[in-house]
Amino acid sequence: MTTNGHIPMLDLVTVHRELEEELVSVFRAALGTARFIGGPMVEDFEVEFAEFCETPHCVGVGSGTDALRFALIAAGVQPGDTVVTVPNTFIATTEAISQAGARPDFVDIHELTYTLDQQPGDGRHPRASVRADRRHGSHSRAG
Ligand SMILES: Cc1ncc(COP(=O)(O)O)c(C=O)c1O
Repeated sequence: MTTNGHIPMLDLVTVHRELEEELVSVFRAALGTARFIGGPMVEDFEVEFAEFCETPHCVGVGSGTDALRFALIAAGVQPGDTVVTVPNTFIATTEAISQAGARPDFVDIHELTYTLDQQPGDGRHPRASVRADRRHGSHSRAG
């Protein structure tokens, strides 16, 4: 999709247009049962998505922010912990860290991948941060 010859930074319309018939059909089925939270449709989705991901379980949640927060809590993040992330992410990332009671600690991105730099120039080791806090029985900042 272009606008006045420019390529938009983000196009969320085209993908929805392509899925419109399927989405409307599923929404009609949901309207017919009024089971919007939980229920057989969500359970079927959880089973199918777990199979797709080749994992034993899937739990449907209400938003991407909730998914991030629950994943942090399930991974053992506790209030006072530090969670390393990158600055070029959506606000929901740091929001979920805060909701889990932890503090975000930003490290630089890799110049080629634009994802979290595993060996940042300041010598910190991102993957060890939370675990290091836990081992020393405090919530001090690792690295
Ligand atoms: C990278 C990223 N993470 C998390 C979210 C949060 O998703 P939600 O708006 O469903 O909470 C978004 C939303 O756009 C996102 O772009």
